Amino acid sequence: MTFPQDFINKIISGDSVETMKKIPDDSVNLVVTSPPYNLKNSTGNGMKDGRGGKWSSAALINGYSHYDDCMPHDKYVKWQRACLEEMMRVINDHGAIFYNHKWRVQNGLLQDRQDIVSGFPVRQIIIWRRKGGINFNAGYFLPTYEVIYLIAKKNFKLAKKANALGDIWEFTQDMNNPHPAPFPEALIERIISSTTADVILDPFMGSGTTGVIAKKLGRKYIGIDISPKYCKMAEDRIAGNGMQRETKGLKPQMDLFKQLQQA
Ligand SMILES: C[S@@+](CC[C@H](N)C(=O)[O-])C[C@H]1O[C@@H](n2cnc3c(N)ncnc32)[C@H](O)[C@@H]1O
Repeated sequence: MTFPQDFINKIISGDSVETMKKIPDDSVNLVVTSPPYNLKNSTGNGMKDGRGGKWSSAALINGYSHYDDCMPHDKYVKWQRACLEEMMRVINDHGAIFYNHKWRVQNGLLQDRQDIVSGFPVRQIIIWRRKGGINFNAGYFLPTYEVIYLIAKKNFKLAKKANALGDIWEFTQDMNNPHPAPFPEALIERIISSTTADVILDPFMGSGTTGVIAKKLGRKYIGIDISPKYCKMAEDRIAGNGMQRETKGLKPQMDLFKQLQQA
């Protein structure tokens, strides 16, 4: 594969670390991404019994199409740090990474993801408050937030006036996307339009939200996902062909939500 022609405005089906290794140093301005959260490696906090204790995880009951999201914790941390190292290598001195993750409690201990991000230049933590949702688990309050680590190289600056925004952002989850864990478009629009980045990489592109918004805002994208099925979804969506074309075997989240309500 040759850079830039095989990468810019392309969706690449492959492993994120291996594919990023083929991208030259300093050739990307921004990374916006949400990795798999290792959700199936859980003590029963909504995932392990396969019933989906909480609405936010319900669409993930069946998992991703080509990845089981169940690694031993140490291996998962090592993998995510390898991903972040590649992201840091490919962004230039004015670049930044918006790395979305979730804090959780396991065996009484807080997993605040410090083991993943320590040593990387975390500049700020943004709270994404997800609006809405219904809780099916009587043992917990409804989880409503995720975190976005802004990891920035030394010369990174926000676009003009973006610093007027606060660090708690409220966006409703995307209910009509057949991917099990999509970004809401408005969240990605907020991130990308808060920067002046030209080339934007999402090494866990899923249904292509980062690409859709990059294109909408006149920026360039590079998308990577292990699942050929999601890559096809992303390509269709970016081409403006909608999301319902490649939905065989994938239920939109709203359908699942209704099923759970009726259960
Ligand atoms: C949280 S989802 C990303 C969803 C995306 N933000 C969207 O808007 O649709 C994580 C994605 O990582 C992908 N994935 C899992 N392991 C991967 C790997 N080793 N390399 C690349 N992608 C991987 C999954 O297929 C899944 O689509």
